[in-house]
Amino acid sequence: MRNPIIVALDVPTADRALELATQLAPVVGAVKVGKELFTSAGPEIVRRLRATGAAVFLDLKFHDIPNTVARAVEAAVRLDVQMLTVHTTGGLVMLQAAEQAAQTEARRLGRTPLLVLGVTVLTSLDDAALAELGVNGTAAEQVARLGRLAAKAGLRGLVCSPLEISLLRAALPAEMQLVTPGIRPPGAGQDDQRRTLTPCEALAAGANWLVIGRPICAVPDPRAAAEQILAGLEAPR
Ligand code: C5P
Repeated sequence: MRNPIIVALDVPTADRALELATQLAPVVGAVKVGKELFTSAGPEIVRRLRATGAAVFLDLKFHDIPNTVARAVEAAVRLDVQMLTVHTTGGLVMLQAAEQAAQTEARRLGRTPLLVLGVTVLTSLDDAALAELGVNGTAAEQVARLGRLAAKAGLRGLVCSPLEISLLRAALPAEMQLVTPGIRPPGAGQDDQRRTLTPCEALAAGANWLVIGRPICAVPDPRAAAEQILAGLEAPR
């Protein structure tokens, strides 16, 4: 089985990120670099993480005019990342430009195209916050609408909350990769996540990748925590 665990390196320094990645690279499927780490440590941290053997998910949620996003995606391909995020609210043409840039630059370099993941509705936004932005209907309807837009643009993956997995599975082609944060192993604290699934529940619901941060990185033995989660996934269910 491909290892579906993506560990979120939500740490402020390159040293701490590298320490975690070195311990965890053999037992996770990828590491996620977000805005905090990238803004403090820059593209060099991505090169150094790749050198540990870890696949890298660059979670910068690009949202701009199509040309700007396409050039940023090309730069990410040259950094040799395996996944990145864009906001689907950038619109159809921006999403098409992102996917095309990923494919064209990978072909030019002889690499496998990275997975461009669409972000639909931030889980921090509820129906009332969406109404303030001029969005009619519920957050769930907007998630489905933007998911379909991403598929129409040719995107091969989406980020979604655990509670959106079944709705998106029903609305989208089966090949769409779903990447899900909000995962808590049985017995782990919730932190600030409000609606979580366990790793097994999320995979059973149809997730392909599980983004897990604090339950691995903020415990005394991150390697043991990741191994335990993986063992729980491999055990017969
Ligand atoms: O520590 P924890 O497992 O909650 O980390 C989850 C990761 O997934 C963090 O990097 C967080 O920013 C990200 N994320 C999330 N919820 C979303 C989108 C991204 O928790 N809706």
